[in-house]
Amino acid sequence: MNVIEIKNLTKKFGDKVVLNGINFDVAEGEVFGYLGPNGAGKTTTMRIILGLLNPTSGEALVMGRNLAEDDEARGRIGVVLENDGLYEDQTAYDNLDYYAQLYDVSKRKERIEELLKFVGLYDLRYEKVGAFSKGMKRKLAIARALVHDPEILFLDEPSAGLDPEAQRMVRELIVNLSKESGKTIFLNSHNLDEVQRICDRTAILHRGKIVVCDTVENLREKFSKPVVLITAGDKRNTERAFEILSSLDFVYDCEKEGRTIKLTLREERQSLVKILTEKGIEIEEIRKERRSLEDIYLEIVGENGK
Ligand SMILES: Nc1ncnc2c1ncn2[C@@H]1O[C@H](COP(=O)(O)OP(=O)(O)O)[C@@H](O)[C@H]1O
Ligand SMILES: [Mg+2]
Repeated sequence: MNVIEIKNLTKKFGDKVVLNGINFDVAEGEVFGYLGPNGAGKTTTMRIILGLLNPTSGEALVMGRNLAEDDEARGRIGVVLENDGLYEDQTAYDNLDYYAQLYDVSKRKERIEELLKFVGLYDLRYEKVGAFSKGMKRKLAIARALVHDPEILFLDEPSAGLDPEAQRMVRELIVNLSKESGKTIFLNSHNLDEVQRICDRTAILHRGKIVVCDTVENLREKFSKPVVLITAGDKRNTERAFEILSSLDFVYDCEKEGRTIKLTLREERQSLVKILTEKGIEIEEIRKERRSLEDIYLEIVGENGK
């Protein structure tokens, strides 16, 4: 079942088109990574999904509802936006208790203590949040978003601005939460590595469009294939080599550029040179490279993120 449905969503700010007719779905229980460089429109999309911002056209449904018009459905989601929005002069416990009261949570004390233990802040429950590190604040913000046991958790760049150790802890927390509760988690990220580590599926947003939407496993499978660059002795050898190589069943893709042939293989093979030399083809150079999902992502969004 799809718990989030994005249908032909467009958002313009003045003349600037930030989202240009995007479509994707998020299935129940999935950790979904919404990936794109800074300024791509991830927060904008999330704000529209949450009903905090109106789209120019199209719609975003959560559990089949439009959150802008549905208080009941809004009460079934949890949110951590870029700004943690905690009360710094209050204790960790009181920060959670404030929300627990707001959401009319039953057995408040048990629930809050359970969450504080889950995020590893139980021993610090009576400390004021102002003294917490950024990582501790982020974990507390996640705990707060879970107080009313929401069905879907929205996280906008959950590890942004944290040091590597805190990033690791926050990611671990998200993975554990998904494992233990099976909740649907939708997170924005500009970090492919993060998405690869913790998400089941991802959509890549670039220049207002969804350029890729697939499981992380499929993407890895699809993109991290061995690539072999073969340079033949002359034009005639290149043509013949191209013909032979294109017809091999373990060759996934075959492109020609000048005297160089770029082969993407379904699987590693050692026999390429042999195949060609047996047919009397002269090879000047053969080079192997392995393209990673990272290479593909950088190719899509550009080295500098834009
Ligand atoms: N309220 C707004 N008014 C005008 N432009 C905006 C507004 N909010 C966001 N933008 C622009 O929309 C683009 C996408 O922003 P944002 O959704 O924050 O990207 P991301 O979260 O992917 O970094 C940016 O160019 C940003 O400047
Ligand atoms: Mg953002």
